[in-house]
Amino acid sequence: MKEKSTFTPIDMDDLLTAAVKHIPDRLMSHWLNKVHCGDCVDIMNQMPVGSVDVIVTSPPYNIRNSTGGGLRNGSGGKWENAALLNGYAEANYDDAMPHDKYVEWQRQCLTAMMRVLTDDGAIFYNHKWRVQGGLLQERSDIVSGFPVRQIIIWQRDGGFNFNPGYFVPTYEVIYLICKPDFKLAPKANGVGDVWRISQEANNPHPAPFPVELAQRCIESTTARVVCDPFIGSGSTAIAAEALRREWIGIEVSKDYCKLANERIQAARKLLKHG
Ligand SMILES: C[S@@+](CC[C@H](N)C(=O)[O-])C[C@H]1O[C@@H](n2cnc3c(N)ncnc32)[C@H](O)[C@@H]1O
Repeated sequence: MKEKSTFTPIDMDDLLTAAVKHIPDRLMSHWLNKVHCGDCVDIMNQMPVGSVDVIVTSPPYNIRNSTGGGLRNGSGGKWENAALLNGYAEANYDDAMPHDKYVEWQRQCLTAMMRVLTDDGAIFYNHKWRVQGGLLQERSDIVSGFPVRQIIIWQRDGGFNFNPGYFVPTYEVIYLICKPDFKLAPKANGVGDVWRISQEANNPHPAPFPVELAQRCIESTTARVVCDPFIGSGSTAIAAEALRREWIGIEVSKDYCKLANERIQAARKLLKHG
C-alpha cells in the first residue's frame, strides 16, 4: 500500500515575503547608522523595499509661503526668533514653494516613505497647522489617502502672535500613518495622545524638534530600524542611538549633514558607545 505523502510544497510567496521581512544585514550595512546627503525621494527610492520599521520626521513646513508674514510676527511654530527668515540658507532652499507644488512634493515624499516601510511599520509625520488668509489650514491635503490612524498633539511652548484674530498657537501635530499590521510597543498606548515636550534650546539648526520628541516616538514602538528622511541636525539619530536602535538619516544640505554628524558623535561620546 502506498504511504500517504507528508510533503508540503513550498509556497514561493511565503518564502519571498519572509526574505523581504528579514533583509540581510550585509545588504543594509551601506544604509545603517549614517547620514546620507542628498534628496530624500531619490535616496529612499534606492533603498530596499520594506527595509525600515519606523519613520520619524518633520519636513520643511513651507513656512515662508504664508499670508501675514508668518515668521516676521514670530508665529512660525518652531521658527521662533525668525531663525528661518531666509529659509534654510545653508540648504539653498527658501521654504516658499507655491502651495499646490508643496503638497505634491510632500505626497511624493510620503509615497517614497511607504515604499521603504515594513508591513507592520509606521510613520510619525510632524507638521503644523496654521491660519492662512484668516482660515485654518490643516494638512489633510498632504495626508489624504494615506492610512492616518491617529493625530498626536505635541504641546510645545507658544510663540509670539500679534494677530488679534486668533489664539497663540501652542501645539504642532504628529500624524501617525500606519501600515495595517502596525502595533505599538506593549503598554506604550498609556501615554495618551497629547505630549507635552518643551522645545530644545542650543541647537544651531533653524527648525529642529527636540530629541525627546523623537525618543517618545521611537520608544513607543518595537522598531529595529528607524529612518528620518529630513534629519536636519540629527535629532532622530541621537534618539535612536540612546535607545540602541539602528537608524538611517537623509538630509539635502551638506552643512546640516556635517552638523548632524557632529551632534551624533558628541551624543555617542556621552552615551559611551561611539
Ligand atoms: C524641519 S527640518 C528637520 C529638522 C530635524 N527634525 C532636526 O531636529 O534637526 C527639515 C530639513 O529638511 C531638509 N530638506 C529640505 N529638502 C530636503 C530634501 N529634498 N531631501 C532631504 N532633506 C531636505 C532641510 O535642509 C532641513 O534640514
